[in-house]
Amino acid sequence: MPRHFQSLEDFNKKELQSFLFRAAELKEELAEGILQRQLEGKTIGLVFEKPSTRTRVSFEAAMYGLGGQVIFLSARDTQLARSEPLKDMARVMSRYVNGMVVRTFGQDVVDELAQYSTVPVINALTDLHHPCQVLSDIMTVLEYKKSLDGLKIAWVGDGNNMANSWIQAASILGFELALACPEGYEPDKEILAKASSIAEQPINLLRDPAEAVAGAEVINTDVWVSMGQEDELDGRLKLFAPYQVNSELLARAPAGAIVLHCLPAHRDEEISEEVLESKQCVAFDQAENKMHMHKAILELLLSDAL
Ligand code: CP
Ligand code: NVA
Repeated sequence: MPRHFQSLEDFNKKELQSFLFRAAELKEELAEGILQRQLEGKTIGLVFEKPSTRTRVSFEAAMYGLGGQVIFLSARDTQLARSEPLKDMARVMSRYVNGMVVRTFGQDVVDELAQYSTVPVINALTDLHHPCQVLSDIMTVLEYKKSLDGLKIAWVGDGNNMANSWIQAASILGFELALACPEGYEPDKEILAKASSIAEQPINLLRDPAEAVAGAEVINTDVWVSMGQEDELDGRLKLFAPYQVNSELLARAPAGAIVLHCLPAHRDEEISEEVLESKQCVAFDQAENKMHMHKAILELLLSDAL
């Protein structure tokens, strides 16, 4: 059975730490000019049903960087668009490629592909999770803060796919997480309940952004309108206005706090231009680290090394 990456829950603490450790090592090797060819002769298929800049390019660059090959498929150009069953797609793709990286709407799509695929299926974002992104972001946190021990991380804004993956990460890796989300836009209830029941550090769902960022060395936000929610734009912009990450909110956090944004950012909506362009914001390091993390994920899953 291949190891799939449907959500962060597929791995225990030690395994998530292996991804983090290996990604940092691969980043260092690249900086030293060491040639990485461990996936030579292997191919992955990217099946994307939503737009992407970073995730697509960083997975492709990661695979080529390890000597492998990539086939990119826009889902609407495949027979999925003409109702070919997912279970058939999974079994056919498994005969051609060594792994599948999937970006789609429903988590059930990734889950069904994983159920029938004989090669690893990796979640590159669904409406429910964005696990590889959060792992890359934790790599960035570790670069700046050295350890997760005793660290409080804040999430400000929509209780979306990113928030859900942060909740799972907090419960598995053991750091404190405070989320400030408006009423009606909370993270997934089941994910939160399950994570809270196993977490060693508090995971608190709050309303007040100032309360969430108090004592938080890391502050995270994301767009107020995720892909697929475009019809809700006007209502969301009004409702989320008090949740903007700006210099006023940052003044409530410790002086050395860093700001994370997985990008793309909507300036002066969820984050002020001033904060996004400030030294405190590490969004472009996060973007770079996606490539190193994706290398680690591909290497460990495609060579059955976990
Ligand atoms: N952060 C992220 O997933 O960006 P893309 O949508 O550009 O892949
Ligand atoms: N929550 C955002 C993340 C984009 C990378 C979305 O799903 O659109």
